[in-house]
Amino acid sequence: MDFRDLSFPGAPLIKVSPPGPASRDLLRFQSAHEGSAVSYPKGMPMALRRARGATVEDMDGNLYIDFFGGAGVMNVGHANPEILKAAQDQLAELSHALDFPNPSRKSLVESLLSLLPKELSRLYFGGPTGSDAVESALKLAKYNTKRYPLVAFEGSYHGMTAAALSLSSGVPFKEEFLPLLPEVHFVPYAYCYRCAFDKAPEACDVFCARYLDHKLSDPHSGIAKPAAIIIEAIQGEGGTIVPPEAYLQEIREICDKHHVIMIVDEIQAGFCRTGKMFAFEHAGIVPDIVTMSKALGGIGLPISCIAFKEALNTLPQGKHIGTFRGNVAAYAAGAAAIRFMRQNSLAEHARLLGVEMLSLLKELEKDSKTIGEARGKGLMLGIEFVKDKETKEPAPEMAAQVRRLCHQKGLLIEIGGHDFNVARFIPPLVLTKELARTGVEIFADSVKEMEKAL
Ligand SMILES: Cc1ncc(COP(=O)(O)O)c(C=O)c1O
Repeated sequence: MDFRDLSFPGAPLIKVSPPGPASRDLLRFQSAHEGSAVSYPKGMPMALRRARGATVEDMDGNLYIDFFGGAGVMNVGHANPEILKAAQDQLAELSHALDFPNPSRKSLVESLLSLLPKELSRLYFGGPTGSDAVESALKLAKYNTKRYPLVAFEGSYHGMTAAALSLSSGVPFKEEFLPLLPEVHFVPYAYCYRCAFDKAPEACDVFCARYLDHKLSDPHSGIAKPAAIIIEAIQGEGGTIVPPEAYLQEIREICDKHHVIMIVDEIQAGFCRTGKMFAFEHAGIVPDIVTMSKALGGIGLPISCIAFKEALNTLPQGKHIGTFRGNVAAYAAGAAAIRFMRQNSLAEHARLLGVEMLSLLKELEKDSKTIGEARGKGLMLGIEFVKDKETKEPAPEMAAQVRRLCHQKGLLIEIGGHDFNVARFIPPLVLTKELARTGVEIFADSVKEMEKAL
């Protein structure tokens, strides 16, 4: 089966302006009975019926091109039949197994080990979400170093459980819940469009990385020797921020120099999204611990895992346990998804399609008065909206309006960024050229319409 045939033919197709009557019914029910923190249906109001490949159908029969991909989960496409079959076959045999070995678990372990650098020879399945992988990684780092402080980066997002939230920089996510973990310190990321040190990327010699070295070297920096630093190789929720390759290399060297564990969070950027199996591969480095989730479950089955070096494999039996440590159907789906990614060269497809989409977005950036920067790698793309290209004042309401217009026209997108002013594309990697081009056209039309109304 060709992955180019997975999507609904005919998308986009808007039969009734969303949310149509059937969607409105379910939205009303949801807001009457579920908690007010429900989020995505407020940005893209609709209820969902089905999804295939890189397309989604709402309850009123509207078909959308999906540049949202379940927040970066659906790399091998919605309802991919190969993955579905693997999960269904497994469910009929065994659906819950705690951490007892079973053939599907073995198969996923073998698949992951064949993808990862050989130094990352140990795997551990934690609770079902990305946040759980982050918790596992932190505990492993603390246990091994017997140290407490942690370093994370401005613009980071690592999840919503207490420790993962502590490491996430977004103040709006956490200010009402403080204090969280103590001794978490944030340093600037290589966000070259808005350099914290006001430097130009061509001439700065990754000054921001060297600043971290200073923070770890100076006895008066305020940071006691950390257990770990945690970093996204490409920041996702922070606004699709792609650092120079030298940046991650420098961070690796700094971790080695100071004997600090380097955790690379691949929960969003991993599994072919950026044109490599893992985003850290672009920089040619090997982390000490890697966190994985999202696309690992193949068709959106919840699962998380960390990979780590043999020397860190010290946790005694039962030190980090739980009822849902791994997920048998997700092992089968994950192994099938990895097979599918390889057989269909999805990393290369993502790389090439990403180049084409970014060049279209760069054209749009040139013509637009509100796009400060279009950027990204592979199928992880971001478009940052500003009120003024000179002052770079963030324009979150423009990003929100563009998302609304895209939704009305049949395109689903994500929003992120320090100021929620970055439109983000994280589509299923089975996106076809045609859907990609049509999606970018809808986005461009929406930007123009938004700008006309200014
Ligand atoms: C880089 C990164 N880490 C961790 C998480 C948290 O994953 P989850 O939402 O499954 O807890 C996310 C979620 O968006 C993420 O993008």
